[in-house]
Amino acid sequence: MKTIETSRLVLRDFKQSDCDDFFEYARSEKVGPMAGWKPHDNKDESQKILNLFLEENEVWAIEYKPLNKVIGSIGLHKDSRRNNPKALMLGYVLSEVYWGKGIMVEACRAVLDHGFNDLGLELISVYHFPFNTQSESVIKKLGFKYEGVIRQSTVRFDQTVLDSVCYSMTKDEFNAL
Ligand SMILES: CC(C)(COP(=O)(O)OP(=O)(O)OC[C@H]1O[C@@H](n2cnc3c(N)ncnc32)[C@H](O)[C@@H]1OP(=O)(O)O)[C@@H](O)C(=O)NCCC(=O)NCCS
Repeated sequence: MKTIETSRLVLRDFKQSDCDDFFEYARSEKVGPMAGWKPHDNKDESQKILNLFLEENEVWAIEYKPLNKVIGSIGLHKDSRRNNPKALMLGYVLSEVYWGKGIMVEACRAVLDHGFNDLGLELISVYHFPFNTQSESVIKKLGFKYEGVIRQSTVRFDQTVLDSVCYSMTKDEFNAL
């Protein structure tokens, strides 16, 4: 995947040596469940997911330049709700230590630019659970258009049934921002 640099961040492929940094935030009860996944119980779980990231090639590690440390991840994934190869779905998580500094907005803007202007995507979607006001704030700051709610669309790992709040942005909308 292309390495993307912003003022505070390097978005790059994960490396095997990132496993400790990955586990550090993936073990938190406040991070994975907000994105739909179970907190990691141990480093072996993080290692397995890291191997999947390397196989699938759709997730960047977010490296924080001042510390040369991986503090989160961001990806463009197939959107199971849309049958359009030029439409991908944005997903992201950040270590709670770094919340509230505008880091994810910075990372997302760079990935949106890459998606539309290098990969030739026509639409990027993003979804959050109704209670995830932090992600809602990021999505609104980025200028996504609200589409509606798909009720009871996700059965999370803990068997909770959740609605999805849906947004999208087209290439023209991004380039007009
Ligand atoms: C969503 C997430 C990526 C936001 O990243 P971020 O870089 O902190 O984003 P911002 O700095 O723009 O802050 C977003 C909002 O979080 C809130 N926030 C910041 N720090 C917080 C904290 N410690 N506790 C609770 N809320 C906090 C703020 O209200 C802020 O909104 P505002 O700027 O309108 O006031 C991050 O919270 C996260 O990783 N959450 C868990 C995983 C997740 O939800 N992923 C997205 C799934 S859809």
